[in-house]
Amino acid sequence: MTTRTKSLAEEFIARDAANISPSYTRSYPFVMAKGQGSEVWDVDGRRYIDFATGIAVTNTGHSHPHVVEAIKKQAEAFLHMSGTDFYYAPQIELAERLNKLVPISGPTKVFFGNSGAEAVEAALKLARWYTKRPRFIAFYSAFHGRTFGALSLTASKAIQRNGFAPLVPGVSHAFYPNPYRNPFPGEDPGQAALDYIEKHLFKTTTPPDEVAAIIVEPIQGEGGYIVPPDNFLPGLRELADKYGILLIFDEVQTGFGRTGKMFAAEHWGVEPDIITLAKGIASGMPLGATVARAEIMSWPPGAHASTFGGNPVSCAAALATLDLLEGGFVEMAAHSGAYLKSRLREMAERYPVMGDVRGKGLMVGVELVKDPEGKEPWPELRNLIVDKAFEHGLLMLGCGTNSLRFIPALNIPEELLDEGVSLYEAALADALQAIGR
Ligand SMILES: Cc1ncc(COP(=O)(O)O)c(C=O)c1O
Repeated sequence: MTTRTKSLAEEFIARDAANISPSYTRSYPFVMAKGQGSEVWDVDGRRYIDFATGIAVTNTGHSHPHVVEAIKKQAEAFLHMSGTDFYYAPQIELAERLNKLVPISGPTKVFFGNSGAEAVEAALKLARWYTKRPRFIAFYSAFHGRTFGALSLTASKAIQRNGFAPLVPGVSHAFYPNPYRNPFPGEDPGQAALDYIEKHLFKTTTPPDEVAAIIVEPIQGEGGYIVPPDNFLPGLRELADKYGILLIFDEVQTGFGRTGKMFAAEHWGVEPDIITLAKGIASGMPLGATVARAEIMSWPPGAHASTFGGNPVSCAAALATLDLLEGGFVEMAAHSGAYLKSRLREMAERYPVMGDVRGKGLMVGVELVKDPEGKEPWPELRNLIVDKAFEHGLLMLGCGTNSLRFIPALNIPEELLDEGVSLYEAALADALQAIGR
């Protein structure tokens, strides 16, 4: 008999390192064995509270019985048939439900893919095809995915682009109005961001009648959980209309109840022409969707398709997910999110390194700074907190250069939310001590 010198997690991680692309960005050694609701266990039997939800995906908690039941039932019936060449009920039913739910009035149609990046690719191709215009406007700090088209829009971290040029041409980037770090000091951030597009981009590099679409995250996700000022999205809608430009909302991260409304656009009552969806749509099964006004999604057979897109098991999981979201989970996220923010804001008074606590619903970000007045970013502290949280039994993720995200399941029970917040505070205190503060 051999004696085990390494934990099971360490053994898996060594095998991972030998066999899997090193491009992934794991910062702590969590090797999952099991998940239930907002609790997860690693292969060595240790329990954690999950404030990461597989990057804002498992909005209904891990393996919700209603979703698992729907997956089992569909898996027993059939696993795949390809919606590009055949028909099946789960895909049609899901399209009907999404068309009713999306924040776009009038008839809409759905294109199904497998991921957020694919949903964005479909939106780009559709916008070019419909408008016959070549250009796009996206925003600094945006994240829209890593395929070539989506990556051309993404302006989040240089490492994501380094070595991959040339990207898809014709994309201009504008400044996203960040109320905490106003890119236009002394000016109204929302209006200044709009003026930059109209008075600078349109007059220099980006003729407006060549722009097919403006694509924007209603709340920036990977870029740092940045909530724009209230005049920004309505102003963007006006600007797009004035120049005949389509407005695409990328709700891959903000959608499906995450912000305390079914879609983040509802916070501002602004309608996009096209909306991209993925992540929380199917509680963890791979699925992406691009929903557009029917008049726009009028491309001919063969123009765009995907073998696996709208997989029947994923569609069944999405239908069950929607049952739960419409059955109260969205309201739960609004309620728990307000509570979470109030607890974090109270903590920020005791820990001034928590420079900004922001977000909507259960899409909450905390920005770590060296000093609250100068707001100097403190990425090292953020990274240390993430690692210390893991040691304390809490799964967290960062975003932006120096922010943390708090994205538990929408139905997290209050006692687990409280436990997670306490673990976060312990990790913060530990990290500050380790760093000498
Ligand atoms: C707003 C947004 N769009 C697109 C994507 C890309 O999604 P995926 O990783 O499923 O391709 C992400 C992923 O984080 C995202 O946050």
